[in-house]
Amino acid sequence: MNDEQIHVFPDLKPLSAAAAERIVGLITDTLNRRDRFTLALAGGSTPRGLYRQLAGPHRTQIPWEQVHLFWGDERYVPPDDPASNYRMAREALLDDVPVPPANVHPMPTTPDRPEKAAAQYEATLRNAFPGETTFDLVLLGLGDDGHTASLFPEDDRATATDDTLPWVRAVEAPPRYDVRIRLTLTLPVINRARQVFFLVAGAAKHDALRAVLERRAPTLPPSHVHPHDSVAWLLDEAARFGTAGKGERERGN
Ligand code: 6PG
Repeated sequence: MNDEQIHVFPDLKPLSAAAAERIVGLITDTLNRRDRFTLALAGGSTPRGLYRQLAGPHRTQIPWEQVHLFWGDERYVPPDDPASNYRMAREALLDDVPVPPANVHPMPTTPDRPEKAAAQYEATLRNAFPGETTFDLVLLGLGDDGHTASLFPEDDRATATDDTLPWVRAVEAPPRYDVRIRLTLTLPVINRARQVFFLVAGAAKHDALRAVLERRAPTLPPSHVHPHDSVAWLLDEAARFGTAGKGERERGN
């Protein structure tokens, strides 16, 4: 990876708008050179505003028939469960854009064993990316404990990057999480992507963000995210500067 950029915005609204504009530009640029754009969506709540932007003001700027959507992780719940990352993306994006259903690749959560689902999704990915890099873009969030996707610091395999690792794992989130069984992309498949955007907002993320950006804390999975081309950190001031916020920090308060 040869490029890391940090962009700070006053709050989540302009962050989401800027992220949408970057994605539209990246899709346009990519489709000038290749016939599809492959995007791995992030879960959680932060990306919802971005997805609404893509489904709203930017809807007609994207040739949806050439966009293929995947997920970076999923809670092992039915697709209509309130905790489902697929459901969040369906409500915020998929229901309002003409992306062909054949281009939408949710992580399966119906097999009786999550390990089977992980293997199924890995087969989907290896079929989608035969020998080349993987996604044109992977969207990731950051938990206040430093996790990303469902790669948690307590899991000693979460920071592994060797290519012998499976591309998709069934994992158990720490007890503090309501939904503990999850599917997640692993670092080898994330690092085969061309670009990664991290979307991080809120003062609760400040400590974890600093540990990654300023210390490259080796126990935190985001410290090991190194895609082929670049990583862009799209941050709000609260996450970047803490509760003090940029203004007070600059005045040395
Ligand atoms: C998930 C996400 C997870 C998320 C972070 C941040 O399934 O929850 O993949 O990695 O990105 O936990 O979540 P928020 O955006 O809700 O703060």
